Amino acid sequence: MADSRETLTINAFVVGYPIKHSRSPIIHSYWLKKFGIAGSYKAVEVSPDDFANFIATLKQGKPGTAVGGNVTIPHKQAAYQLADRPDALAEELGAANTVWMEEGELHVTNTDGYGFVSNLDERHPGWDRAERAVVLGAGGASRAVIQSLRDRGIAEIHVLNRTVERARELADRFGPRVFSHPQAALYEVMQGAGLFVNTTSLGMDGTEAPHLDFSLLAAQAVVTDIVYVPLKTPILKMAEEQGMATVDGLGMLLHQAKPGFERWFGKTPEVDEALRSLIIEDM
Ligand code: ATR
Repeated sequence: MADSRETLTINAFVVGYPIKHSRSPIIHSYWLKKFGIAGSYKAVEVSPDDFANFIATLKQGKPGTAVGGNVTIPHKQAAYQLADRPDALAEELGAANTVWMEEGELHVTNTDGYGFVSNLDERHPGWDRAERAVVLGAGGASRAVIQSLRDRGIAEIHVLNRTVERARELADRFGPRVFSHPQAALYEVMQGAGLFVNTTSLGMDGTEAPHLDFSLLAAQAVVTDIVYVPLKTPILKMAEEQGMATVDGLGMLLHQAKPGFERWFGKTPEVDEALRSLIIEDM
């Protein structure tokens, strides 16, 4: 017989490869403690070769195994492919970051877009009055951002990328309100935009960030970054120096964690300043 502690404890995980830099255990452990829930949330390192096995074990649902968890790089696409029930968000992105078992089936969703807009809602309410948004970069992370901006009803979403084909692919995927441009079109596209989102590693991968003239944006515009290490990325610094309102990417990480916690542990957590400080201390 399983010991009673085991059957009462709800277990969840974050799985990735590598995983040691993940801050998700800090977030979920903070909330578990706050609610006094007998639960655990642990980081698990699983290589791409072993990921299907990891999911197979989860699906067996033996006592003491996890009810679900988060999935991070490089397993987001595989998690979607192995799902029995992907929701519409994961389906459109072809990638999942949150998974849970329900009646023997693996459900998956993607909460990155929710995290992105919730961070803006919290730090800069009214941001969604922007009619035009500029998204710099067309990698994996950019997709969830574009999806969430479209679903929020932003009228025009302009995606610019060094490799323009990748931006084009996203414009095709996300529909008629999403437009693609080469990165060189920034000057023209930034004119009058109410939101500027950086999803690239510009200025952080050994390259120098090009000078951007944020005064081209609308007067009430906000500049945000999805990268949160460092908290002030070169792009955010530049925007701040030019007097722009900015929102850092840390809140996206914190907010994207909420739906998973609610699903696995049955309580709705808050993103508060104490949690933000915990993560900053760990950086
Ligand atoms: P992620 O999943 O984090 O978005 P990614 O898929 O590797 O990572 O995408 C990185 C993004 O940053 C891409 O849009 C990339 O542009 P390319 O598609 O042209 O590669 C962009 N990027 C990275 N370094 C860049 C640089 N020095 N200048 C311009 N864009 C850069």
